[in-house]
Amino acid sequence: MTSSASNEKQLAAAAAVSMIHDGMVIGLGSGSTSAIAIELIGERVRSGLQIVGVPTSAASEQLAKRASIPLTTLDESPEIDITIDGADRFNDDLDLIKGGGGALLREKIVAAASKQLIIITDSQKRSNPLQGFPVPVEVVPFGLKPLMNRFAALQLSPRLRMRSDDHSKPFVTDEKNFIVDLQVSQIAAPHELQSLLTFPGIVEHGLFLEMASFVLMGEGTEVQRFDR
Ligand code: A5P
Repeated sequence: MTSSASNEKQLAAAAAVSMIHDGMVIGLGSGSTSAIAIELIGERVRSGLQIVGVPTSAASEQLAKRASIPLTTLDESPEIDITIDGADRFNDDLDLIKGGGGALLREKIVAAASKQLIIITDSQKRSNPLQGFPVPVEVVPFGLKPLMNRFAALQLSPRLRMRSDDHSKPFVTDEKNFIVDLQVSQIAAPHELQSLLTFPGIVEHGLFLEMASFVLMGEGTEVQRFDR
C-alpha cells in the first residue's frame, strides 16, 4: 500500500468515527481501513465515549478487544445504529465489491442490520464501472465442484481462494466456508450479475448493492462524501 493510500484511509476513518455518539451500537467492519477506524474508536472509548461494538470478523473482534471497545452480539443488540466498513471497489451508485479479506458474510449480515452503513476508502477504490477486483462468493465446501462448473459455464472465471500462508490449502472463512473469486473483468450491470449468484451452495457474495448509506473517500488531504 502506498503511503498516500494509507493517509487517505486514515482521513476517511477519522471522518466516520467523528459521527459516532454516546449510546450507539456500532458495527465494526473488517480490513485495513476498518482496522484504523477500530483504533480511533478505541481512543474515543478510552476518553469516555460510551458505545458498544458488533465485530464483523474474528480479526476485528481481536482488534476491538485490544482497543478496549466493549462488544456485544446481534442476539443482544439486533439493531445497529452505524456500521463503519471498508470496500474493495465502489461506483457512483454506491454499489460495492467487498470480501477481499474474506469477511463478506458477517459484514453483509451486520450491514443489513444497520440503520446506516458508512463506507470508508482510499481513492483507489472508486471505479465506474466496477472493475479491477474479483467478486468473492462464499460457498459451502460440500458443493464446491458443481458450483465451480456452473460459474465456469457462465464465463465467470472462478478461482478457489487459497490461504496466503499455505497455497496448497483453501482459505476458510470465519463461518467455515470457502471463497470462490470470480475474475470478472468489468461489471456493467451489477444487478444482473447478482441475479446469477443464486445456486444452492452459495452462502453469500461480495456484491453489496443498495446497502451503503454514503461513502467517505480520502483523496489527497481531503475527504469526499458520496451519497446515493
Ligand atoms: C473484508 O472482507 C472486506 O470486505 C474489506 O472491507 C475490504 O476488503 C476492504 O479492505 P481494505 O480496507 O483493507 O482495503
